[in-house]
Amino acid sequence: MRISSAISALTALVSVTSAAATTKAVSASVTFDNNRRFLFDTDGRQIDAYGSKVNNFNGKYYLYGNSFSETGVAYGIKSYSSSDLQSWQYEGLLFDPANKNNPCAGSGGCGRPHIVYNPNKKSYVLWANAGEVGYVVATSTSPTGPFVFSAARALIDPAFDGLQPADFTVEVINGTGYIVFSALNFRSPNAGNVWPPIFQNLHVSKLTDDFMNTTRVSYPVSSAAGDLIDNEAESPDIFKVGNTFYVAASNTCGYCNGSIALLYRSNSIQGPWTRQILEGYSCNGQVEGVLPLTNPANGAVTNVWHSTSVPGGPRTGFGGHIFQPLTFNADGSAKNLDCSTTASFPVTFTKGNGTAPAGNATKAVDTTPALAVYNPVCDSDSFILYQTWTASKAGTIKSVSLNVARGSQTVPLTLTVFKLNSLNDLFTPGFKWTALGTAAFNANQTTYTFDTVTVPVTTNSTVTKGELLGLSISGADYSPWCHLEYSTTQDCGFKLYQQGNGQYSWRGLQGKNPPVYERQGKSVKFFATYA
Ligand SMILES: *[C@@H]1O[C@H](CO)[C@@H](O)[C@H](O)[C@H]1NC(C)=O
Ligand SMILES: *[C@@H]1O[C@H](CO)[C@@H](O)[C@H](O)[C@H]1NC(C)=O
Ligand SMILES: *[C@@H]1O[C@H](CO)[C@@H](O)[C@H](O)[C@H]1NC(C)=O
Ligand SMILES: *[C@@H]1O[C@H](CO)[C@@H](O)[C@H](O)[C@H]1NC(C)=O
Ligand SMILES: *[C@@H]1O[C@H](CO)[C@@H](O)[C@H](O)[C@H]1NC(C)=O
Ligand SMILES: *[C@@H]1O[C@H](CO)[C@@H](O)[C@H](O)[C@H]1NC(C)=O
Ligand SMILES: *[C@@H]1O[C@H](CO)[C@@H](O)[C@H](O)[C@H]1NC(C)=O
Repeated sequence: MRISSAISALTALVSVTSAAATTKAVSASVTFDNNRRFLFDTDGRQIDAYGSKVNNFNGKYYLYGNSFSETGVAYGIKSYSSSDLQSWQYEGLLFDPANKNNPCAGSGGCGRPHIVYNPNKKSYVLWANAGEVGYVVATSTSPTGPFVFSAARALIDPAFDGLQPADFTVEVINGTGYIVFSALNFRSPNAGNVWPPIFQNLHVSKLTDDFMNTTRVSYPVSSAAGDLIDNEAESPDIFKVGNTFYVAASNTCGYCNGSIALLYRSNSIQGPWTRQILEGYSCNGQVEGVLPLTNPANGAVTNVWHSTSVPGGPRTGFGGHIFQPLTFNADGSAKNLDCSTTASFPVTFTKGNGTAPAGNATKAVDTTPALAVYNPVCDSDSFILYQTWTASKAGTIKSVSLNVARGSQTVPLTLTVFKLNSLNDLFTPGFKWTALGTAAFNANQTTYTFDTVTVPVTTNSTVTKGELLGLSISGADYSPWCHLEYSTTQDCGFKLYQQGNGQYSWRGLQGKNPPVYERQGKSVKFFATYA
């Protein structure tokens, strides 16, 4: 951050908001790490925004990206708002993806969405990748939509008319709009059967003054090497520190678990560009953007690199995000990313205006922590689970919600909320619980991301403080249901038990082992609301 100068601070302030002078900026801090990859909204649902970009518009932070929850592929764009970069409120889809008149059904699925603000027209301009010619553009008076698509497409440098426009970014730096895009060549004779499947290069152009089009004059963002690494660059973002332009990018990656992290730099968008490979490989992710955060006390700007991480394969909806500040060397190069599990990155930034919003999860009474490190576990084919906890106050339980993600199940997921007298009840033959409520969910009532399902409590809902409660989770199918788990601390009161599917009798040589075992040190992600 040493390189942050008054000038770069000014650049970022001007690019994000022009009203800072009239509103006193409040300082806030956030600490990022490499382990807590899943983000959740205030209703407790996984943030469903692949290839996220975070912007500061009119004094508030907005995160948006492609939704994968409904169809398992990119389907529309969701947005979330925050004042503290930790608590995110769902702000809905930017437009109705089911509307046949939107252009997103074309290839690209309205991918890599980016929004810029045009202060002259007081208009937010959304750019997205859909279809073969240039990019689609839409406008709205609000950063959360609804956005209305322009009939005309934004066109790129005609030199690439034969290629397919792909990943891109648009950004406004010191009042000037830029696009960095890649153009896919599916016809290169150098493509392999195993890899690489395609070739693509990054190019930068200025935008027209209304930020609705490109100037159609482009310059390559490529190093002197001009090698396969330059020829497989995608997912760019552009930012500026002092007089230096930076383009963050990655190598070709189909929603994968990590690819080379690239950082190009030049004092002119016309190049020449110097390329770095950041050894951290985006911490097993793919860079999705760089977020400039300004410390209101001294104007210093921290450029926060953020990446999407997914397991690879079809589960793109399981994409998490890691954030870490870039730090620069005296020659303008960046230090390698620190992907260690022990790293933590405190950043001081300008608090967004508005108060932290309330949702079902923030209002819940008994709940696993909002900011724990949650990981997906898909094992309902093998186990019935029993999550237990103690009522944290006397009252009336209203419902219990669990984060689950679907596959292609034909068997519903059945959840029952119950009371038990002691944990030993689970090991005792003939134990009968006191049921509070039960519900079953078919795959079509759940999504491909970790949304919540909610069991209404219908009877025996009055609890005393410290009373033992449980949630049974069962859904044996060839395609297992997925839930989230975190590592508990010893005295947190959350305990998780498993019973092998079909195991209903004593086990072991002495015939004294029950078929129910503790899954030690783990708890599923859930919350219970009280009336
Ligand atoms: C939020 O802050 C920005 C500038 O910091 C200001 O222009 C805007 O009016 C504020 N909005 C609200 C709702 O307070
Ligand atoms: C962009 O400019 C081209 C002409 O250079 C025009 O054909 C196209 O309609 C414009 N698109 C938008 C969105 O303005
Ligand atoms: C921002 O733009 C103004 C002119 O519009 C220019 O004088 C100034 O040098 C620019 N600042 C930076 C950091 O590029
Ligand atoms: C994906 O990345 C994680 C680290 O985030 C790593 O532990 C895991 O082995 C990787 N999986 C594959 C298939 O590369
Ligand atoms: C919040 O909880 C209410 C009442 O339990 C429920 O109807 C609603 O669907 C929940 N909202 C979300 C987004 O989960
Ligand atoms: C949802 O799935 C269930 C079970 O497969 C089926 O009976 C039901 O008709 C489906 N509902 C809708 C709206 O598709
Ligand atoms: C639970 O509810 C059932 C049905 O409403 C009732 O018969 C039973 O007595 C209740 N049990 C307890 C422990 O309150």
